Amino acid sequence: MKLFDSFHRRINYLRISVTDRCNLRCIYCMPPQGVPLIPRSELLSYEEILTVVQASAELGINKIRLTGGEPLVRAELPKLVKMLSQIEGIEEISLTTNGTLLKKYAIELKEAGLRRVNVSLDTFRADRFRYITRSGELKDALEGIEAARNVGLQPVKINTVVMRGINGDEALDFASMTYKEGWSVRFIELMPFVNVAEFVPSAEVLQCIELLGKLEPCSAIAGNGPAKYYRLPGAKGTIGFISPVTEPFCSNCNRLRLTSYGKLCPCLLADSGIDLKGLLRSDASIQEIKRLILRVIVSKPEQHRLAKGILPMKRNMSQIGG
Ligand code: GTP
Ligand code: 5AD
Ligand code: SF4
Repeated sequence: MKLFDSFHRRINYLRISVTDRCNLRCIYCMPPQGVPLIPRSELLSYEEILTVVQASAELGINKIRLTGGEPLVRAELPKLVKMLSQIEGIEEISLTTNGTLLKKYAIELKEAGLRRVNVSLDTFRADRFRYITRSGELKDALEGIEAARNVGLQPVKINTVVMRGINGDEALDFASMTYKEGWSVRFIELMPFVNVAEFVPSAEVLQCIELLGKLEPCSAIAGNGPAKYYRLPGAKGTIGFISPVTEPFCSNCNRLRLTSYGKLCPCLLADSGIDLKGLLRSDASIQEIKRLILRVIVSKPEQHRLAKGILPMKRNMSQIGG
């Protein structure tokens, strides 16, 4: 079955935030005091997530991404991966993580059926890493990336949020990793959830990287997201740009989002969403759950309104999962 929204976009990708908790406190994601945490009893159980994915798969969702907060702080995440990988119709399960716990879990995740991981990394400097994450150790993230590559969670994509005056001077260091290590690096335009720095337009980052050589557009590497991909001459790895501010990609949006507390949301950048948890906890039938999923799809907005300065007020990134 194929699922389309009111704007003829095919919806086949569900992003599931498994927790709002995180072991880091990135400056672009959270205010310094952190964010109020959702009581554990309000989190969807793995069985409840399984039911939502079963219903979604019957409707035509075939790709799942697990996000957070930091998904690996939720106990027994590989168990959830295994449960989801057995659902008919689910072709790919991937994970977005800050990487700091990956060394510990990479093998288990691979064995459970995880296909690949995207890892956030914004700097190669240990002091900056501590500043940006307000606590983390660069070494842990780098070891996590290496572990994921070693167990074949490929391609590992590196997500780098570019912030003027903070890490904007490291674009060439990231780009050169596509030669040195065959990394797939993606530069992300900062979305103004928290007022930390000015965003850097992708066109400016691209121009800077072209000091290393002409970037040739290339076809998308394994993925379901909005990045545009390029390659430096002779490089094994790729360079991607995710440009929500200067080049909104809403017209190709293919996704729904499930929050850790059971709200199904049609858009990252809108407050709208419908509570699924109530239905799940009232022993509703799979048909009723499917009907609610369809209602959310029908409510998907045509585009976000970042350009008009309109941002979601009720949630932050760690609650909806990037
Ligand atoms: P692939 O399947 O590997 O392409 O993954 P992806 O790019 O869909 O997922 P990932 O979690 O790595 O997302 C990278 C970043 O893109 C996120 O952290 C966000 O900054 C941004 N992003 C992802 N989805 C959306 C979206 O729907 N809207 C906007 N504005 N930004 C998004
Ligand atoms: N703008 C852009 N991307 C963000 N992320 C978190 N906050 C922001 C923001 N304000 C991204 C991180 C990570 C994912 C979980 O969300 O880089 O890849
Ligand atoms: Fe945690 Fe990711 Fe938010 Fe950083 S961006 S605080 S790693 S959820």
